[in-house]
Amino acid sequence: MTTSEIRAAFLRYFERQGHLAIPSASLVPFEDDPSVLLTIAGMQPLKSYFLGAASPPAPRMTSSQKCFRTNDIDQVGHTARHLTFFEMLGNFSIGDYFKDDAIRFGWEVSTEVFGLDPERIWITIFEGMPGVPADEEAFERWVALGVPPERIQRLGDPDNFWKAGPTGPCGPNTELYLDRGEAFGPPGGPASGSDRYLEYWNLVFMQYDRGPDGSLSGLPAKNIDTGAGLERLAAILQDVPSVFDTDAFRPLIAWAEGASGRAYGRDARDDRALRVLADHGRAMTFLAADGVRPGNEGRDYILRRIVRRAVSEAGHLGLEPEAVAGLAAPVVEGWGDAYPELRERAAEVRDVIGAEAEQFARTLSQGRRLLAEVIERSAGGRVRGEDAFRLHDTYGFPLDLTLEAAGDAGLEVDAEGFERLMREQRERSRAGAGAGADGVADGAAALAREAAPTEFVGWDATTADTRVTAAAELGDGTALVKLERSPFYAEGGGQVSDVGEIAGSEGRARVIDAFRLGDDQVLRVRLQEGALPVGAEVTATVDAARRRQTQANHTATHVLNWALRETLGAGVRQAGSYVGPDKLRFDFTHRGRVPAETLERIERMVNERVDQDRPVGWRIMGREDAAEAGAIGLFEEKYGERVRVVDTGGFSKELCGGTHVSRTGEIGPFAIVSEGSTGAGARRIEALTGTAALAYLRERERELQAELAARDERIRQLQAELKRAKSARTDVGSLAGDAVEAGGVRALVAQVEAADMDELLAISDRLKQSLGDTAAVVLGAASDGKALVVANLAPGAVAAGLKAGAIIREVAPIVGGGGGGKDAMARAGGRDPSRLPEALDAARAILTADRGS
Ligand code: SER
Repeated sequence: MTTSEIRAAFLRYFERQGHLAIPSASLVPFEDDPSVLLTIAGMQPLKSYFLGAASPPAPRMTSSQKCFRTNDIDQVGHTARHLTFFEMLGNFSIGDYFKDDAIRFGWEVSTEVFGLDPERIWITIFEGMPGVPADEEAFERWVALGVPPERIQRLGDPDNFWKAGPTGPCGPNTELYLDRGEAFGPPGGPASGSDRYLEYWNLVFMQYDRGPDGSLSGLPAKNIDTGAGLERLAAILQDVPSVFDTDAFRPLIAWAEGASGRAYGRDARDDRALRVLADHGRAMTFLAADGVRPGNEGRDYILRRIVRRAVSEAGHLGLEPEAVAGLAAPVVEGWGDAYPELRERAAEVRDVIGAEAEQFARTLSQGRRLLAEVIERSAGGRVRGEDAFRLHDTYGFPLDLTLEAAGDAGLEVDAEGFERLMREQRERSRAGAGAGADGVADGAAALAREAAPTEFVGWDATTADTRVTAAAELGDGTALVKLERSPFYAEGGGQVSDVGEIAGSEGRARVIDAFRLGDDQVLRVRLQEGALPVGAEVTATVDAARRRQTQANHTATHVLNWALRETLGAGVRQAGSYVGPDKLRFDFTHRGRVPAETLERIERMVNERVDQDRPVGWRIMGREDAAEAGAIGLFEEKYGERVRVVDTGGFSKELCGGTHVSRTGEIGPFAIVSEGSTGAGARRIEALTGTAALAYLRERERELQAELAARDERIRQLQAELKRAKSARTDVGSLAGDAVEAGGVRALVAQVEAADMDELLAISDRLKQSLGDTAAVVLGAASDGKALVVANLAPGAVAAGLKAGAIIREVAPIVGGGGGGKDAMARAGGRDPSRLPEALDAARAILTADRGS
């Protein structure tokens, strides 16, 4: 059964039992449930019904609920079973049926709907604790359904007592396990903890409410809450070793394989990365579709963390950070039918993930540079906890990357020091959220008053010889510094602050931020060598490449503003902007969306102005004169009597305090990436220039090509399937004629063409059917350089004394492999297809041997 079929069969069964199928609630819990950040179980959206605080739409409900659990986030990838996001199938009764029916439904679904072998099902029940008796009713019920008492085991709290959180609805539960056979671990039942037994369904008898003091009181009614992890069920029913091998996950793994050129199942480290991409890719798509946005707190931070982890693992596979946004496509494809919100918000999801990945990529590359410095500085010793912490805190650089790089250089990391600083920071942020950043801004304002205003010389220059006029340590390894003259642009008018370096004979520091205080400014620096006391002569140097990109984006913003007014009318007013080295964003007043053709025209107009390579200049003038000269801009807001007017190529004049390129040609290619609503009554355009624009266009082209290639591949697969189906059918007819009668069975041994084990099995099934009740079929096939062998026996052949498992155990070693199975069916794979004929001869000898019957 495919994952979708399992989901549908489950819901359909419970609908037939009078349940209302309710759609999955959002991953973001209702506002009145502050107990969790994200939905963790199917019962969660129904909590108020269990508590009797609201009345349910129906007393019997069933759902497939989107869930997210963070407790194992760091395990994901390392194992073949941990997931963050998963789907939970459940059936619920609010004061309607209770234990008897819940257990009966669980049994019927397991054995009839899913066709699980009753002999392989194990049960656990609650053994009791002070105040709550052992669950003898559940025991009796299971025994009445035919489960032998020795396959029912008792466990205590927490295994068999379920609670959604420290307080709230809870109760004893009974769990269903599947025995996967001796290959997976020792016997002893689920209570032994052996991996051989896989839990697949939890039935909770929700009858208590736990108070804040830990006491249990009865709920208004006795309820049922069950949960079955869909992914795990799929792995069981598809008989594959892990959730990542199920039909639902294969396309995600395949996407990551295709993008990276690495194959799953070859290398443990690659596998970890591929699994992280599959799980996190799915999780981030669902989270973003439910409106979660990457950030620093709560569920926003969860999203940020998984995007970042995916980016790191993508890096391991040699993929670009932005590539992780591509994972959204196979997720939408695979789950869009069951969860339509994915399709509706596909574009938005991509943007959210792409932007976060891109931002993290910048952080990472800055961090890498710093890391290289740290490693060099630490040569022969160990990396200080402070350095590891700074990398993490300022650059978002994960500790494992620092550990890895340090390890490569033969260095240790003071992990204890790192942890201590992390703890201290957590305490600080608990003591007063936000106080840190405000504190620095206050300090900057105080420092500004200590010396004459800084003269800003950065409109044309990116370097200046100057002097420190005031300085103050901040106690976190950074300091505030004021300069006499400064080439550093301090954030304002949408343009971000410059970063760079200050160096003199006494010391050297990295400039990480610049505060604008009216016409004055203060820099935040991180000291790297020596000291920068007041009076020190220094050279201040702006990070020129970053500045150049920022300037190109700033001038492009002016040209865009002009083109918008030309096409949409002079009513267009700037409502906000962001101008950074990475991109530009322009918010403007306009009704309704800008049609694609108009956007294209705007983009073309900007590129034409770029081509014309017009000069860009500026002048300071009286405000009235500026207005008269037709300059546009926020006259009322923040400018004094004298204003700065930037003239771009003679066609646009704008009030602006920012820095610009000197000719429009320096902008390079210009590309609009998106147009949408800001949510605040304005429209927003995001655009790229220069190499970023080229890279974007190239990526779009690659995607298009990948889509085309994927389509071709699908067609190819369909054709191959068609061919296989045809050839399989003809094979069966002629092959069946080769069967021989021997010792009361109709034996057929043959080598056939099959693409994989599934197909070989299917052919053997068809042959078995056409040969009747005494069929004994052994088939071999060579596929992908491997040997596949199947023994498939009809009941009459088993009665005649043949055992499929024994046959396979005998012949598998001949092809260099192993395998096994039951009496009726067994299969094996081997490394050596050239010895298939020999193996089949051996099988023939067994089938036709004298069995004395
Ligand atoms: N609430 C229970 C669980 O999460 C059953 O749905 O396992």
